[in-house]
Amino acid sequence: MKKNFKEVVFSGVQPTGNLHLGNYLGAIKNFVELQKKMECIYCVVDLHAITIFQEPKNLKKHILETVAGFIACGLDVKKSIIFNQSSVSGHAELAWIFNCVSRIGWMNRMTQFKEKAGSDKEKASVGLYVYPNLMAADILLYKATHVPVGDDQKQHLELSRDIAQKFNNDYKSENFFPIPEPLIHKGFSRVMSLRDGSKKMSKSEESDYSRINLTDSSDDIVKKIKKAKTDSLSIPDSIKDLEGRPEALNLLNIYSSLKNSKIEKTLEQMAGKDFSKFKENLSEILIDIICPIGKKIKDLKKDENYLQKTLEDGSSKASKIATKNLKEIKKIVGFPLY
Ligand code: TYM
Repeated sequence: MKKNFKEVVFSGVQPTGNLHLGNYLGAIKNFVELQKKMECIYCVVDLHAITIFQEPKNLKKHILETVAGFIACGLDVKKSIIFNQSSVSGHAELAWIFNCVSRIGWMNRMTQFKEKAGSDKEKASVGLYVYPNLMAADILLYKATHVPVGDDQKQHLELSRDIAQKFNNDYKSENFFPIPEPLIHKGFSRVMSLRDGSKKMSKSEESDYSRINLTDSSDDIVKKIKKAKTDSLSIPDSIKDLEGRPEALNLLNIYSSLKNSKIEKTLEQMAGKDFSKFKENLSEILIDIICPIGKKIKDLKKDENYLQKTLEDGSSKASKIATKNLKEIKKIVGFPLY
């Protein structure tokens, strides 16, 4: 029989540089909504970040910047637990247990490893390979039931579900771990690069013109949107006519998402306009929403002590839950407890 688990939300963001519009629309905006109705735990995943080498002094800076980004986007430290992954050792401990539950065949199917490792897989870190097991540990250490993420994390979430299921079966602990539900936007779950509508917007793409960073100035935004790739056709009145036009679809999706409305409604309002006019509207709404966030990030970054204290408080709250759950897990696995 399926047990009713307490609803807990968990998600993570890597501290590998500037947060961008993809992180905001794909994940963090949703984090903010969820904290109004559920217990939420949001983690700056620094253990994940080092699967690709990070300069130590930059890593620390980026961790604090990510916390500033969370708060600037509307996360409230009184409602959500905000902490960094390496401060709670249970993540690494449970990841090891999951390395022993998860299967090599499952790992070999992970498309993100293939993309990130590139053509020379022999040179990728072992950490990058087992990265999804650590993700499962993040989620299940808190017995989280709901995981808000962008579409690019869907396969990792499916793996977390498989790991939870296999652990429960192998250790004859039916219903010990919940099977976590991904929360992915139905309409628009992947913000694409402004330069190439077939690639997702990402921190790692070389050209800064491919993304809107949350700290971009209004001038940057106008320039980037002006330069964003489109095509010579005008805006159609139905989604069907956007087939084969990924860049046009992406800009219209971004606009609709910022307006909290459906793309159909945007098409109704914009049909017939050419993209140069639409881009002015898009820049305006981006400036309205993103620039205040960027300003807040810059202000928060000046108060390093506050950001550090936020992490410390969050870490102590997260540790309490993690320690209790890890004890139960170790008992199930058969490790002696003292
Ligand atoms: P990361 O740091 O790459 O991205 C953080 C969140 O932003 C979303 N995202 C996007 N959404 C839509 N369009 C885009 N272009 C885009 N780019 C990024 C991601 O889907 C993600 O939700 N492995 C994860 C972090 C992680 C995690 C976890 C997430 C570690 N442990 C446990 C959930 C639960 C990652 O690298 O996200």
